[in-house]
Amino acid sequence: MREQMTLQPIGVIHSPYATVEDCPAYSESREQTYRIEVFPEYAPALNSVETCTHILALYWMHLARRDLLTQGYRWDNQPHGTFALRSPHRPNPIALATCELLRLKGRILTVHGLDCVDGTPLLDIKPCFADIDGSPDARVGWWERRTKE
Ligand SMILES: C[S@@+](CC[C@H](N)C(=O)[O-])C[C@H]1O[C@@H](n2cnc3c(N)ncnc32)[C@H](O)[C@@H]1O
Repeated sequence: MREQMTLQPIGVIHSPYATVEDCPAYSESREQTYRIEVFPEYAPALNSVETCTHILALYWMHLARRDLLTQGYRWDNQPHGTFALRSPHRPNPIALATCELLRLKGRILTVHGLDCVDGTPLLDIKPCFADIDGSPDARVGWWERRTKE
């Protein structure tokens, strides 16, 4: 039930941002391009990825804190549970982003839509399906209430 798991990075993200403070807050930003380098031993796993317009990237927020179970935003003194937040600071600092795939050349994917610092470890890549991964009815109540106040 509670055994530990071992994760191996499958690659590294090359980002224009050198520090956490420089990064965009959310991954929807389309202004910057990022290069995702997949390590040579995982290259066969990229077969057919070039046919995807969008991918889901899972990455490891290696500079994050892992001890925060509740957190508040600077602009909001209301604390929320970590699992109600997209904060990088979490017990297992796994991050998720939907990325537009601009091109795949060799082991390098050029994408829009990340929000991490240069050198962030890559954990996984999955194809993004519009019908599976889109949730047009999804709502976050605390966020909607805050923005209406
Ligand atoms: C709000 S999180 C969202 C991450 C991901 N898109 C998600 O939703 O799971 C993005 C922020 O994490 C911080 N960050 C970026 N790279 C990081 C890293 N390698 N370690 C810790 N924090 C990082 C930056 O402050 C960035 O603005």
